[in-house]
Amino acid sequence: MTSNFPDRLGRPLRNLRLSVTDRCNLRCQYCMPEDEYVWLPKDDVLSFEEITRVVDQFVTLGVDKVRLTGGEPLLRSQLPVLIKMLAERPQLRDIAMTTNGVLLPKHAQDLKDAGLHRLTVSLDTIDPETFSMMTRRDDLERVFEGLRVAREVGFENTKIDTVAINGVNDGEFVELIEFARSASAELRFIEYMDVGGATRWRMDRVVTRDRILEILSAKYGSITEVARVDAAPADRFALPDGTTFGIISSVTQPFCATCDRARLTADGMWFTCLYAEKGTDLRQLIRSGMSDEALRNRLIEVWTDRSDRGAEVRAGMTDRAPLAEPANLRDNPHLEMHTRGG
Ligand code: GTP
Ligand code: 5AD
Ligand code: SF4
Repeated sequence: MTSNFPDRLGRPLRNLRLSVTDRCNLRCQYCMPEDEYVWLPKDDVLSFEEITRVVDQFVTLGVDKVRLTGGEPLLRSQLPVLIKMLAERPQLRDIAMTTNGVLLPKHAQDLKDAGLHRLTVSLDTIDPETFSMMTRRDDLERVFEGLRVAREVGFENTKIDTVAINGVNDGEFVELIEFARSASAELRFIEYMDVGGATRWRMDRVVTRDRILEILSAKYGSITEVARVDAAPADRFALPDGTTFGIISSVTQPFCATCDRARLTADGMWFTCLYAEKGTDLRQLIRSGMSDEALRNRLIEVWTDRSDRGAEVRAGMTDRAPLAEPANLRDNPHLEMHTRGG
């Protein structure tokens, strides 16, 4: 599709990920392995009015998909109020949320009522011990309940995102597929990425797309690839019985060439790549009294100058190691995946 504002590599801006809080109620080892974190100052966090003001300008550039992320977005108080405000904007044809599911039993109905279209639940294991080890919390039953309640209140096309890690959950891919099927959700395996807080990342811990397919075909037989529908990062596949699943191979087969996404942190920092070191401070611009028109021009300027292809650049590295050390993350919490939106 053509865009009035393609970046330097011809990619339109369509997909905006809004991180609404950097806080999380889990401590997943691939995202938040440390014991202490530097949190964004509360006063810096954008209000719902500020968020929607920025979203409105993004919409004029072509954004039509919004995803709420965190941290854990359900820790942001009054979140359904923001969803309602977003749902009032007809240009947003897709309003989704990525959640760890722990608070879904409590909030699913309100999210549905507010107008949220879709849910993605992050779930890496269905084994209670592995869950406790991976997340450092004992909330697996709540996630199960969350998925059940989400379905009950009418959410459809729910996805379950599973970060695949060698030696941790690579023994339960079949069980996860079966579980997702029973929960009426589509499972997507994600290659473990060397982003933000993944300070324990190592290449030999990544379960590659090829290996995932090998494990699954040993159980199910021949697997066929399903045609892609949009610029979504997942490649989709079908088992012989028609069950579909996805693989997001950001490490071994990056999809930067079609990347149409940008991310806004809870404190208004705008990143044009998951791996970007620097962002554009939109909070400072809007709080200094910038007009909508000037804000829009700034967004156009930044996007049309974009040439990011972080995952592809990293795929070309030999001796690949984690993007950041714990000390870098303390100095610059904006590097964290739980700040820039998973
Ligand atoms: P839909 O297709 O709209 O449901 O969403 P999505 O496919 O964009 O999926 P989602 O936003 O849930 O992202 C799934 C996972 O893909 C994330 O949790 C990340 O691990 C990874 N991912 C998301 N965005 C990016 C990105 O911009 N670059 C890379 N390399 N990986 C990403
Ligand atoms: N590798 C892959 N995915 C990650 N996420 C966070 N950190 C990583 C990582 N290092 C993604 C997962 C999780 C979502 C919240 O963020 O998809 O489900
Ligand atoms: Fe897009 Fe950057 Fe992710 Fe590549 S690494 S897909 S450019 S966000």
